This record gives sequence, structure tokens and C-alpha cells, in this order.
Amino acid sequence: MKYITVDEMRSMFLKFFESKQHQILPSASLVPQGDASLLLTGAGMVPFKPYFLGQEVPTYKRVTTCQRCLRTPDIDNVGKTDRHGTFFEMLGNFSFGDYFKEEAITWAWEFITEHLELPVDRLWVSVYHDDDEAYEIWTKKIGVSPDKMVRLGKEHNFWEIGVGYPGGPCSEIHFDRGAEHGCDDPNCKPGCDCDRFLEFWNLVFIQYLQVEPGKFEPLASKSIDTGMGMERIAALIQGVKSIFEVDIVRPIIDKIAELAGTSYGADPEKDVSLRVITDHARGLTFLVHDGVLPSNEGRGYVLRRLLRRAARHGRLLGIEGQFLLEVVDVVIEQMKQGYPELEERRDYIHKVVSLEENRFHETLDQGINLLQEIIDQLKAEEKALISGEDVFRLYDTYGFPLELTKEIAAEHGLEIDEAGVTAAMEEQRRKARAARTAADYTNKHGELYKQLLGKVNTEFVGYQHLEYSSKVLALIKDDQFVDQLTAGEQGIVILEKTPFYAEAGGQVADTGTITAKVGQFQVKDVRQPVESIVIHQGVLISGNIKVGEEVLATVSSHERMDIARHHSATHLLHKALRDVLGDHVYQSGSSVDVNRLRFDFTHFEAVTKEQLALVEQKVNEMIMANNSVQVENMSMEEAKAAGAMALFGEKYANEVRVITMGESKELCGGTHVSSTGEIGLFRIISEGSVAAGVRRIEAVAGKQALKYMDEREKILMEIAGNLNTKPENVVDQLNRLLEQQKQLEQELNQLKKALAGDLVEELVKNAEQVANLNLLVTEVDITDHEELRELGDRLRDKLNPAVVFLGAKTSEKVSLLGMASKNTNVHVGNVIKEAAKLCGGGGGGRPDMAQAGGRMPEKLDEALAKAKELVLEQLKVSP
Ligand code: ALA
Repeated sequence: MKYITVDEMRSMFLKFFESKQHQILPSASLVPQGDASLLLTGAGMVPFKPYFLGQEVPTYKRVTTCQRCLRTPDIDNVGKTDRHGTFFEMLGNFSFGDYFKEEAITWAWEFITEHLELPVDRLWVSVYHDDDEAYEIWTKKIGVSPDKMVRLGKEHNFWEIGVGYPGGPCSEIHFDRGAEHGCDDPNCKPGCDCDRFLEFWNLVFIQYLQVEPGKFEPLASKSIDTGMGMERIAALIQGVKSIFEVDIVRPIIDKIAELAGTSYGADPEKDVSLRVITDHARGLTFLVHDGVLPSNEGRGYVLRRLLRRAARHGRLLGIEGQFLLEVVDVVIEQMKQGYPELEERRDYIHKVVSLEENRFHETLDQGINLLQEIIDQLKAEEKALISGEDVFRLYDTYGFPLELTKEIAAEHGLEIDEAGVTAAMEEQRRKARAARTAADYTNKHGELYKQLLGKVNTEFVGYQHLEYSSKVLALIKDDQFVDQLTAGEQGIVILEKTPFYAEAGGQVADTGTITAKVGQFQVKDVRQPVESIVIHQGVLISGNIKVGEEVLATVSSHERMDIARHHSATHLLHKALRDVLGDHVYQSGSSVDVNRLRFDFTHFEAVTKEQLALVEQKVNEMIMANNSVQVENMSMEEAKAAGAMALFGEKYANEVRVITMGESKELCGGTHVSSTGEIGLFRIISEGSVAAGVRRIEAVAGKQALKYMDEREKILMEIAGNLNTKPENVVDQLNRLLEQQKQLEQELNQLKKALAGDLVEELVKNAEQVANLNLLVTEVDITDHEELRELGDRLRDKLNPAVVFLGAKTSEKVSLLGMASKNTNVHVGNVIKEAAKLCGGGGGGRPDMAQAGGRMPEKLDEALAKAKELVLEQLKVSP
């Protein structure tokens, strides 16, 4: 076999399929775009789901990609073996209702035998047990010997991803690594669990849609989805033992080994940690690149788990402090030929990773303290089992690995409740599953829209027009197509052309009316459930509307303009934030409507007041510069070359729309003002944190900004009126008043003190001499705790040696205070406890000072009498 690097392999594969009329497309994001049902991209076919299902018409019928993938089900095995990983690249070729089994098989064979030059005698093929067609193609057309063919069942040769996804029988190509890798079974073949036969290319014959777990329905057209594991094939070709040793992975593991002062292969236990960090570092680098931020749920949780596991294994290897950035750099270095965009986001990736790594070290320390508390508590209670919930909480909230909890518990002779942990984990998984299913809403009218595919292709004319006449192509009422809607009915109108903007990219939908010959439909919402169809939802307010008639669609222009002002302002805000805060700022979400804009962006600390003021000022300067807003359509490559900002989580077509306003250049499909001056005015209303590393600005533009300023001004005028001064003097006047208030408070305090002095003198007279001390038990008129305590202090000092009991009441409650000089033989804490009970309360304290409260003011006298009685008892004096 000839040696081929991973970088070479990528281009060999893509070029090979290009020569078979496939369009090469770049790897999609690890975050499935426009698909809430799936957590992560785990296969090359994921971005093409709508094409397989016939929900959208593909631009190309044949496509080839090298797709970055992340799969987590095996995460607990990563490190323990040579084979398991979460992150990998998948080479694939796809046919959307075009070629089928024969071509897929022929080309796969041609590529591996003629281009990769894999030795034919080492190759084996499996097919689905009843797939005679594939079997025939392999044996008759390709000439694979029947001894090298195996038929396997559903577990091995049927591919499925889940409900709502396409699937079908598949055929896999395996490489025989030699008997020395195998088991003792003389009949060992592909399908055996041992390491001898390595499956490296999966050809899926897509023919079904999974409609329920385990239930499949045939699809209208047949497609092809293939996936070749890049690291696996590279390991074979490069003649290395594992995916961790292929040319672009080995330098990562070596770097980590160097940081840990060891080398890969030197110590089996350390190798586990080296493999974990290597795999996870690759995954986390790409997740962060793709816009995922660490959190406690969904994708964010996957990222957090990968990062924390990697960091902890760093600790296990004895690496001190933060080290992941150095590893991330090697990942970028090794992957940048395939993914040059990694390099562009290096700073950003660094920021996110270092913040989370740091946080992990902190929480790990917190976790250790918490665990210590749990252990102390258990020991005090003489128990020996740490509850599953506690262990799970340590794991889940503090990223505290189970093994570590177990280890520390064992050091204290304790055990952990493993069954309880499993139950808690299962509960969390169940919740996660439920959350995913909740997000997995399949479009309510999906079946209806499918019937329109190919027949309807709504053209959006709303960039140029706010009013347009068009034909009604379809009407929907109560989940059914209807010929007409009549007055009072709610429904959906589908037009041939529409000026209405459907909600997308954070911009709300337009509203307005559709006027029919004898009817008027009020448009409340506009959506684009599939790429080619725009639907207008609303109610027919009068007359009727019929399929086939010409109508006039009219967008409410004032609202459109208010929305446009806010949308254009977000572009300027994005630019200003990057200018003021730095290039790590990326939009991570936005929402614009008639009333305001909300803009979420990555930034790792609070934005200071000064920065915020500067951002606002810059946006207003850009508005005043009155740059014309230019709109151009171009290819993604051209847009990138022109420096246009693409956003995380957006799905872009091959031709993109670029909006330029002065120095701001963004890919965007929204509707905008025609020159920045039309925005009028921009004001920031608030800034705050929405998640770790994500900040949110709310702001207003245009009319809403004026309204906001008007309201503020009204408040100012009212204050000025109340202060009896002009607005420009409000601050001085207010400061004067505050100063005055401070002085008055001081005077008041002095007066209170003087009064208190008098009170002390007055009360001292009520003290009785008992045994060798002065006893004072009395009601006073002071309910403030502080003041009561001060009075108690003074009385005790004045009467020293003394025991003082004070009681005070309001209409609702009672306060009691007991004070004693040192060495009086009286424990006022015990006394007050009993006394407080009488007035419906509780409390206690030290021998020399105690406080209590109660809820029965009418019993205060009784309580004080009791206190006196108890003191006398303690002093062994009879009353
Ligand atoms: N989608 C198929 C797989 O992931 C090719 O194995």
C-alpha cells in the first residue's frame, strides 16, 4: 500500500467523486442547521436530510463532502481502547434520487482498489441479509469472491439515525488486518466482535423514512448515502495501529505527552488519559469554532463534558494548571489545511476554552470542599454510604468525576451508592431525551407542503416591493387544502409571489393585508416551512378568497420600516462592538421587530459603562454618516474574500446576499433601510449576561428611540418640577438635598444618643440589688434590634455586675434581650429560651448575651416575670 496523508486523502476522495459529476461541498457545522431535532452532526448525510426526504429540491443531485462529525454515545469508552473516539471526519458521496446501488458500489470499489490501492485479497464485503441485489452486484459485476461476502442482520447492516430521518439497508467494506488481530474462532468473519476485520466504508441504500421508533415507511425516491471513516482508513493506509497514530492526530498526542513528561505507549494507564485528551481536544476545538458555548444542557453540555474530561485527565497526568490552549493550537495546526477557518477563529477559540478550563479548576476545588462537607456530615451521623444524589450533583454541577468521588470516599472508609448514581443519571438522560423530543416537532402541515413541492415555488419580491399582485396558489384551513376561505375563517394563503418577509434570521415576519376581489385577508404571520414555500397565516375579515384568483398583497409599510431600522441598526451595532471590544465578538443571536432589537454576542466579561457609551456613539456616528446600504449577491467564496461576516448557526445557500453599510459587511437575507441616516437615532437600553460568555444588548432605533428619549425627558421634567428647579440644575439640587439629608441623619443620631443616655439614667433607678449583683428586668419602648442591644450594653456596664432583661413590643411581635456581666452564674441564654416560649417565640444565646422574639405581645409581662423568676432561681435566691 502506498502511504497517503489525511490531507491528501481528503482531496483524492473529493476529486474522485468530482470526476463522477459530484459537486464538492464544504463540511457543514457540527451544529445541525435548521434542524432542532438533532443535537450534533454525527454523519455526512445530516445536512442533506430534506433532500433525501423529498422535502426540498436539491441544487445538485450528486454531492461529495468531507464532514466533521461528533458522536457521544461512546464517550465513556473513549481512551480505554484504540478505536473509540467522539470526533472524526467522514468522507461521503451522496445521490439524491439519482444513482443507486450499482454506481455506489462500483465507484467505492474503484476508489479503494485503484486509487488507494488496497490489496483486494484483504477486502471483505457485508450486505444486509436479504439484499440479493447488492449481493449480485458485488459478486457478479465487481467479482468479489463469495467467500469474502457475508450477509448480516439489522444490527450491522441497516442504517438508521432516528425518527424523522432517512435510513435503509447498507453494505459495508471491511479490511482484514490479519489473523494475529483476531479471535480463536476459525470461522471469524466480518461481524465478529474481535479486532481482525475493520469496517471502514458504509454504503447506505436510502429507501425509508423512520416514522416511529422501529417503524419505517418507503420513500418516493431512492438515494445513496455513504460514509468512510477518515481516521480508520488513514490508519490502515498509514500502517499504524490506531486512529490516534495517524499523521494528523499523532502530533496532538505527542504534545500532550510532552506536557506531561511522558511518551505515548510508555504507560498503559497514562495512555488512557492521553487518548481522552487527544480526542476531546479535537472535538471541543470544532464545537467552539462552530459557535457552541459551554453550558449545562444540550450541545453546550457536550462541550462542557469534553472539556472537563480533558482537563481532568490533564490533572491525572500531573500537568499543572491550564494546558488545553497548547493542545488546541496543535489541533488547529493539524486540521487547518482541511479547515482553514479554524485559524481565523483561533483567538476566539482560545478565549472560550481558557475561560471554561479556568472555571473547571475552580469548580473542581469547590467540589472537593463540598465532598469534604458531605463526608464530615456522614461521619457525624455514623453513616457509610454517600447518596447517589450527592455523587450525581458533584458530577453534574461540579464536573466532578465519579471515579474521583469513589476514590476520596474510599480514603475515608465510605462507599458510594452506585445504584442511586445510576438512577440519577438515568433520570437526567430521560429529561434530556424528553427535551429533545419536545424540540423535535415535525411540521404540522408537513404532508400538505410535500404535495406542493415542485408545483409551488413562492418568489419573494419584498426587497423591491411592498405591494404586489399575485395569484393564489393554495389555501389551507384546518389542516386541509380548500378552494376558498370565507369571512371569519382562519387559514393559510399561499401565493405565487409575495412581498411579505417570512420570519427568518431573527427578523420578525411582515404583517399586512391580502385583498381579493371581494374579500380581505389580514396577514398575522408569515413563515417559510420549506425552502420553496411561503405561507401567510391569518384571518379573512370580509368576503371570500379563492384559489386561482389574482389578489393584491400589501405589506404594512410603517411596520416594515420600523423593523428595517432595527435590523440595520444591529449590523452597525455588531460592527461597533467588534471595534470597541475586539474580534472575539461574534453575533450569537438576534431578534428584531417593530419595537426593539436584541443582540446577543460573545464576550467574556461585563461591558463597562464607558465601552457601552462608546459603542452607542459609534453607531450614531455611522447613522449620521448616512452611508447608502448596498445589497449584492455573490458566491460564498467571494463574500468571504470581501470580508463579509457570516453568522454562527445560519444556513447559507451557495449564492449569498451581502449587505454593506460603510465599514459593516454582513451576509444577511433581511430587509434594510436604504441609507443609514434613515435609522434616525440609536439608544442602548440595557446590557447584561445571558449565558457564560454571551452578553445581550437591547436597544431601540428610529421612532422607538425618540419615544424612549421622550419618556426619559418626561421623567426628568417631573423630577425638576418636584425639586422646584430647572432640568439643568437637577443634579446640583439633588446633591444638595442628599447632603442635607446626611447632616440631618447625623443630628438625629446625636439626639437619639442623648435621649438614650437619659433613658439609661432613668432605667438604672429600677434596678434591684439581688445576691451580689444588680438585676434589671423591664419593658422599654425600643423595637430596633441594634438600638435595643446598645441600650442593653450600656445598662449592663452602668450596673456592673449586672443581669439585664429588656422586653419591647409592637402590635405584632415581641423582642427580648438578655445581658449579663461576666461571672454572674446566670445563663441568660437559657433564661431567654424559656421566657420567649411564653410569648410564642423562640431564641437563645450565650450565657452573657441572648436575644429572642415572639409573636404574642400581650404575653410580654408574663415573659418578663418568668425571666426574673428564672434568674432568681439560678442565683438561688428565693423571690
Ligand atoms: N450515514 C452512514 C454512516 O454514518 C454512511 O455510517
